[in-house]
Amino acid sequence: INSKTVTQNVSRHLQKTTPVDVVELGRHFNGTWQQNDKAIAVLREELYNCCSTQDDFILTQKNTKIGMTIHYAIQKDRTYRVTSALTRMLPKTSPFSGRRFSRCSVVGNGAILSQSGCGQEIDRADYVFRCNLPPIGGKYAEDTGIKSNFTTANPISQISWIYKGLRTQQGRDKFMTDIKKFPGLLWVSAFGVKAATGISQQALRFVTQRRIRNPALVFGNPKHFINTMNYWKAHGLSNRLSTGMYMSSMALSVCDQVHLFGFWPFDKDPEDQPLAYHYYDKGKVDKVHNMPQEFLKLLEWHQQGIVNVHVHKCE
Ligand code: CDP
Repeated sequence: INSKTVTQNVSRHLQKTTPVDVVELGRHFNGTWQQNDKAIAVLREELYNCCSTQDDFILTQKNTKIGMTIHYAIQKDRTYRVTSALTRMLPKTSPFSGRRFSRCSVVGNGAILSQSGCGQEIDRADYVFRCNLPPIGGKYAEDTGIKSNFTTANPISQISWIYKGLRTQQGRDKFMTDIKKFPGLLWVSAFGVKAATGISQQALRFVTQRRIRNPALVFGNPKHFINTMNYWKAHGLSNRLSTGMYMSSMALSVCDQVHLFGFWPFDKDPEDQPLAYHYYDKGKVDKVHNMPQEFLKLLEWHQQGIVNVHVHKCE
């Protein structure tokens, strides 16, 4: 099968916003993947120039000074004046500064992971990115692995709602139990929308008071998000980046080899069987992002040897 034809077909489908031919798309992934170090280096350089992920993916005392104005990433007309109380909560420097991981896994939450048997393959990485404190371990271990070095947490839908704003004992206990499964970094988008800031700061105070350093709760840098989004806008991604796409872009900046799992935003699997949205629940497609369009970009990267997108079962 000619991979170029697949891509062309998918783009045509996307323009018409008709459903993507997922069977065709799945077929494309049958071949072996060939890493292209040169293409990876070029993209990494471009990403460094636009966004300097290593130094600026989170707010630090180095990039966030008292009196500075922070522009919210999503509510673009809203701003926040940096106080000394905020800067005191931030790490001095970025934990990614001068670092490079050799093999990384970025794990999306798609149901394509169910029954994939990819847990070990995911955990083989030196650094594992996950999205939104997903359920891991136990019955999911075989398909999704247990290792994690970085996860995002949503301040509104998770900290405020699921963990009850850390106001009830039950909410606090659940938060403590859940975050312990995710050592490394707990990335919170405190400056996406105004409503996220207070609750994010509260969560940071909560872990600081309890001397929880692992995971370290860090605040996403809205400027980095905007720069990354603008970069991808110029490269064909029109909508707000999904968490998984944003993580993938970050991984490309700090990893030599990137493996993606759990990315498949379609309601049929490559064999044309019905598929849920998340590997842990039915979930629903969200209209803010354009995940099929993002997936096409991932497909392009896969073809170019930039990332290895895993959509089939692991051996
Ligand atoms: O809620 P949010 O969009 O942030 O993401 P999620 O549903 O928790 O899933 C994490 C990421 O996995 C998404 O941002 C997508 O990039 C990816 N995903 C996918 O590619 N296909 C799916 N069926 C579900 C998620």
